[in-house]
Amino acid sequence: MRMYDVIKRKRDGFELTSEEIIYFVAGYSDGSIPDYQASALAMAIFYQGMNARETAALTMAMAVSGDTVDLSPIPGIKVDKHSTGGVGDKTSLAVVPMVAACGVPVAKMSGRGLGHTGGTLDKLESIPGLSISIDEQRFFDIVNSVGCAIIGQTANLVPADKRLYALRDVTATVDSIPLIASSVMSKKIAAGADAIVLDVKCGSGAFMKTADDAIELAQAMVDIGEEVERTTIALVTDMDRPLGNKVGNSLEVIEAVEVLKNTAPADISETCLELAANMLLLAGKGTLQECRELARRSIESGAAFEKLCQMVEAQGGDSSVLRDTTRFAQAPFSEQLLAPCDGYVFHMNTEQVGIAAAALGAGRETIEDSIDPAAGIDLARKTGAAVKAGDVLATLYSSDREKLREGAQLLLGAYDIRNEKPATIPHFLARVTKKGVERLA
Ligand code: URA
Repeated sequence: MRMYDVIKRKRDGFELTSEEIIYFVAGYSDGSIPDYQASALAMAIFYQGMNARETAALTMAMAVSGDTVDLSPIPGIKVDKHSTGGVGDKTSLAVVPMVAACGVPVAKMSGRGLGHTGGTLDKLESIPGLSISIDEQRFFDIVNSVGCAIIGQTANLVPADKRLYALRDVTATVDSIPLIASSVMSKKIAAGADAIVLDVKCGSGAFMKTADDAIELAQAMVDIGEEVERTTIALVTDMDRPLGNKVGNSLEVIEAVEVLKNTAPADISETCLELAANMLLLAGKGTLQECRELARRSIESGAAFEKLCQMVEAQGGDSSVLRDTTRFAQAPFSEQLLAPCDGYVFHMNTEQVGIAAAALGAGRETIEDSIDPAAGIDLARKTGAAVKAGDVLATLYSSDREKLREGAQLLLGAYDIRNEKPATIPHFLARVTKKGVERLA
């Protein structure tokens, strides 16, 4: 077989055989297929797509390209959760302890942020002392004693995706449905969970810009899950405005604590409740309505917050910053962004909000960049809000005055203020299961 022929067949719109897909993944993983041929194939897939069989074959070839995790030392049904990436998405930090507080173990491996999207590991590392590099035995021990743990992927988990994702990131081939579906699902399958809840983001801050595309991505991932006997549910949720008010690493940990204290904004709180409820449903904890009630009670009783503190301590972190969030390291510089005119916040370019946060120091442009944990944005006004000239739109934080100026300019450009009030955006757009698509808006 020649890689040249595989690229040409996909370029010309043919369906690839499973053997061709396995040949590509194996060759790209062992270095015998170079980046330039892999990027040509990624671009061909971007334009020509892949059908369900090809996408499943790509997923499975990648899932077994490195180590796989056997979670059987943890008793019970293990449900994982994954978001396709957005701005202000701190749901894992709240959902994982909520589900664990309801008696369902969560052994989660997360990733780092790149570009305009944040990563759970970077957020967790803003907690002093907390380690995300934990060996497998200790990971199992923490989940068995505390109920949950969130760690970094082991170095050899889905190495094919690591290489391909980095390549896609620099060749404008990230936002392809079969490539995202296989990337996400290969990691979830290799990480060993019995069932999976996906949060597929849709809008200006997400890879999928329209509800139809996001639903198609959700369906592709649910189909893959079913094919490998991991029951999968996907919620399609709005990412046309940032989720919650806080964007940045320690700021997002603080907002996750607010979710668990029942003091967070409605959009982030409701998203966390719904994700947790769907995870509890897959773990067999009752009907969806009963699971929503369980999730709500985990917050009201304080059990979910205590679970987060226990998890942080078990991972070596200082939970006192969660009990008193003013103890988080503060950024030395801050600036308020003021509304330039009267009107309504008609739209927010959410990707640009993420880029502004990254420019402040909260994100990275390349995987080697370091993160400023205290940098970020606290949004005072989001889409739909009425504003008067001079009202505070947001407060920006950074350890670098120059970055503060750049971040403020970028953030101002993300706001579209008009005289017209925008239509209300529903937060939940669809729920996709093996039974089909339930449109919620
Ligand atoms: N998240 C992933 O893990 N992979 C993608 O391709 C996109 C988002």
